[in-house]
Amino acid sequence: MTEPLTIDELKQLARRRVPKMFFDYADSGSWTEGTYRANEEDFAKIKLRQRVLVDMTNRSLKTTMLGEDVAMPVALAPTGMTGMQHADGEMLAAQAAEEFGVPFTLSTMSICSIEDVASVTKKPFWFQLYVMKDRGFVENLIERAKAARCSALVLTLDLQVLGQRHKDLRNGLSAPPKFTAKHIWQMATRPKWCMGMLGTKRHTFRNIAGHVKGVADLSSLSSWTADQFDPKLSWEDVEWIRKRWGGKLILKGILDHEDAELAAKSGADAIIVSNHGGRQLDGAPSSISVLEPIADKVGDRIEVFMDGGIRSGQDVLKALCLGAKGVFIGRPFLYGLGAQGRQGVTNALNIISRELDTTMALCGKRDIRDLGKDMLFRG
Ligand SMILES: Cc1cc2nc3c(=O)[nH]c(=O)nc-3n(C[C@H](O)[C@H](O)[C@H](O)COP(=O)(O)O)c2cc1C
Repeated sequence: MTEPLTIDELKQLARRRVPKMFFDYADSGSWTEGTYRANEEDFAKIKLRQRVLVDMTNRSLKTTMLGEDVAMPVALAPTGMTGMQHADGEMLAAQAAEEFGVPFTLSTMSICSIEDVASVTKKPFWFQLYVMKDRGFVENLIERAKAARCSALVLTLDLQVLGQRHKDLRNGLSAPPKFTAKHIWQMATRPKWCMGMLGTKRHTFRNIAGHVKGVADLSSLSSWTADQFDPKLSWEDVEWIRKRWGGKLILKGILDHEDAELAAKSGADAIIVSNHGGRQLDGAPSSISVLEPIADKVGDRIEVFMDGGIRSGQDVLKALCLGAKGVFIGRPFLYGLGAQGRQGVTNALNIISRELDTTMALCGKRDIRDLGKDMLFRG
């Protein structure tokens, strides 16, 4: 197969490789999907200043995120059910990220467990925490992340109630998938995916199954999970988690400047300006459109990252120019994974890295740590 040249090519390949219910799970936003679309569209509105006759030799994308060295400032975002895009998906994506030299973030709602990922990686990865009503379970997750030597905790703040995604409801999404005629047909038409799944025992939420009393079998697992996200989550809980964790803490899902201010005062180390990839509050602004005022306000006190809508190296560069210290990508790596497994994640990272490098050069810069608003064309 020829190597894909764009994230969109990986997306088209993934559509052909992954059963519809799981491809749709990745490629969906809540309700009208307006915010999901805006995340991508608003990047296209930002224009770059082309500079010429400047030295473009010896370029470097290397920098740090949260004090960790990175090959480029692009981390893999936490995504649920990644092991349904491809068998053992989280383990493969973590290995690809480690090899490339960028952070991998494991979701609470992953298929492979914290221990599974730790068993196939050498460097510490990051763990994303959803806060459940059962605080004993939350404590247990934190202890397991510590035991696995995770080097940062990403606390997600924007999913205490679930934004409705029509496609998931229509598809009857579940992990493992149901065995109705519709679901069997969707899987049978994706034989390579099926072969992979037959070769692994990891088919359900392994951070949860077997770790909560009374939640051993699958029917109790799905109802427990649906009922567990705590709608009372507050800044006091953030403080409790920060103390309990004791390591680097990233707050994910900040979209408003007032929340950014509270986050900067909370003692956390970083925030992710994010609307959950347009999967939660439909009608919220795109992440890139609110990044600049937030970074201007708190960027000198707390590390500011962003995610949502990044599909190219040009997008990464624009976010960095507007004040992000680094970005996260969700769908780009999921499409790579669904399309080509571990190699597909590497391909996604290579595509973004090459585009970022060339774009930086054409803007007249050699060092990724040296970008600023003056590189954007303001009309
Ligand atoms: C399929 C999918 C599952 C996701 N699951 C989680 C999750 O479990 N926890 C979380 O904090 N964010 C989750 N997110 C949001 C991502 O972390 C990230 O904010 C988003 O994907 C960024 O947008 P992008 O996909 O356009 O890059 C998920 C996103 C997708 C696409």
